[in-house]
Amino acid sequence: MRTIIEKLCTEHVRLARLVRLINGHSCLRTDASAPNIALLVDVLCYLTRFPDISHHVIEDRMVEKLLAKKALSIEFGHEIETQHQTLIRDGRDLLQDLESAVRGENMSQELVDSRVRLYAERLRHNMVIEELTLFPAAEKNLNDQDWREIASTGAYGQTDPLFEGAVDERFAQLYRVITAEATVASVEEPF
Ligand SMILES: [Fe+2]
Repeated sequence: MRTIIEKLCTEHVRLARLVRLINGHSCLRTDASAPNIALLVDVLCYLTRFPDISHHVIEDRMVEKLLAKKALSIEFGHEIETQHQTLIRDGRDLLQDLESAVRGENMSQELVDSRVRLYAERLRHNMVIEELTLFPAAEKNLNDQDWREIASTGAYGQTDPLFEGAVDERFAQLYRVITAEATVASVEEPF
């Protein structure tokens, strides 16, 4: 079922926008006095609320099925799963630290800042590995029954609270910033 891979690729385009948002904005630096630190909290909140419980979980199921068929190298499969575990753990930790920074608690801003940038780089790298290894292998080796089983999981049924349907009020400000970015950059990819 190629639609699942298309959905994952669409989500990668959206995630890449968020990676660029994290990396490209000096206004997002983790200076608690900067009002836009709240936007960075929103980005991390979204990433922990949707990709962590849907996108990465679907990919893990694909990895497991491909490993069972010996259609993906164990090295790549385990690397992708480990990357997801690291992203999920670090995303939650960072969100807590950023929320502490917003509250004005004593944080090493330089340390948080470098961790945020490392997180963004890990997410970007994870997507590159998947597009080079996982998606081509899945397209070639998973059959209709495999795709039906993947689609029947709760992870597949999750609604994206930022990019699909009515934007969750929690992410309204983030959505406005992303939309403005897309307009300025004249980016044509749909989201
Ligand atoms: Fe992915």
